[in-house]
Amino acid sequence: MPDPLDFFYYPVRDFGLAMKGMIIGGMGVVHVFLAQFAIGGGMMMCWLQWRAWKHDDELARRFLDSFFQVLVLVSFVLGALTGVGMWLTAIQVSPRTIGKMVEEFHWIWATEWTFFCVEIVIGYTFYRCHRRLDDPTRMLLLAVYALASWASLFWINGILAWMLTPGGWSQTGSVWAGFFNPSFWPSLVYRTLVSLTLGGLVAIVVVHTIPGMSREDRGKLVNTCSLVLAPMAVMPLVGLWYLGTIPPDSREWVLGQSTAMTMALGGAIGASTLVGLYVVFGLLLGRLYVNAATATLLLVLAFAATGAGELVREGVRKPYTIRGSLYANSLTQADVDRMRKIGSVTRDPYPMPGKFPEPVLVTGAKVFRLQCSVCHTLDGANGLDHLTETWQPDQMRLNIAKLQYTKPFMPPFAGTAEEVEALVQYLLWRKAGQPQRWPIAAGQARLADIRRWLAAAGTHSPVRRTH
Ligand code: HEC
Repeated sequence: MPDPLDFFYYPVRDFGLAMKGMIIGGMGVVHVFLAQFAIGGGMMMCWLQWRAWKHDDELARRFLDSFFQVLVLVSFVLGALTGVGMWLTAIQVSPRTIGKMVEEFHWIWATEWTFFCVEIVIGYTFYRCHRRLDDPTRMLLLAVYALASWASLFWINGILAWMLTPGGWSQTGSVWAGFFNPSFWPSLVYRTLVSLTLGGLVAIVVVHTIPGMSREDRGKLVNTCSLVLAPMAVMPLVGLWYLGTIPPDSREWVLGQSTAMTMALGGAIGASTLVGLYVVFGLLLGRLYVNAATATLLLVLAFAATGAGELVREGVRKPYTIRGSLYANSLTQADVDRMRKIGSVTRDPYPMPGKFPEPVLVTGAKVFRLQCSVCHTLDGANGLDHLTETWQPDQMRLNIAKLQYTKPFMPPFAGTAEEVEALVQYLLWRKAGQPQRWPIAAGQARLADIRRWLAAAGTHSPVRRTH
């Protein structure tokens, strides 16, 4: 018989005013942007090499051998660094999610890293030797580089998409059902298009940095580079395809039910549409000359679109990190059920810094840390002090006891009535300015009500576990 209290508490990390989700999200956006540029940049280099080889396009060769190839290589070094940064932050913010991802997809990660190694070795070989190589060899190296970097996207994409749409894995636990999950293909196609777009836009900016090139030559190069942007015309369709594969409740949030999510999606669509219109009408049809400032602006818009897009993808997973298996605060359904009976922080071994006049306030602070701090701070981003500012104590008790109905993107409360009360006392004590004495006897009378509210809310999320 396992010890009923043997929940494993991971070490905790406090990021101050920044919400934990923001830390990982911020790192994620930079990483995705760099990594996708490295992939698109590789494809762009293939295209330039093809032009140089088959069309004797000396401008393309000059451009390829310029700062651009250095940039692509730098981006994959930075991509790798921020990739390590992702692991570092993820194991602090959401160790259990990361643990599950490694446990389920061990060999997929290994495969991804193998392709990544190929990418690094070939990229470096090209960088060192390209001036001494003939065209077919250069083409071969670049094609392998581009394919390997795209393949690493292929493998990681399956794992990322699985978190939102685990598909058949939820029933069978099959790795391949999880990997080729419902949003795998639209997400892969979409990310490939984004990569190409980033590769093209960065190239156009870089064209303007080559010293001593005539305006006419720059114009020609911009036109050559713009061709890889053409596929982005189908992005809206692929976006719709993606929306069609995600769970209906997630879709409803981005389509109006959650203001923040809807705004983020609107931002992503707006920014990509602007880039798209400029590319199609300005660059491809109009053959316009685009100057450095415009090109940079297009790139900034693309960065904004990437950021907003990733935010939506992270946001619509709530209240889960792995849909149906793991809530965002790293608790499973079984944990919630059990902790309702035995308490969630009963054995939390980590100290709670600060001075508390009553032990119940320490319990409240620990409940916040375990169950809420992944999405909330106290007085910073999405801060609870502010969100509960106008609430009466009983309103707090009720709304926390039925947390999953207060907002459906929050997980159910995973603790006893005493813990709801402790959390409420903690929030009230903060609201009162953290006085040195805190008489709490009055609160005890509410436990029976809280028990009733907890029972009425049940332990499940109204957000369906699978779809
Ligand atoms: C999965 C992320 C997540 C977790 C975990 C979470 N919340 Fe929230 N919560 C949110 C989001 C997002 C909002 C919406 C904020 C807004 O409307 O600006 C919210 C809103 C709230 C509000 C305001 C509700 C309203 O109607 O205005 C309160 C109070 C709150 N949360 C308390 C908690 C408490 C207490 C916990 C821990 C027991 C918790 N939350 C855990 C994501 C979460």
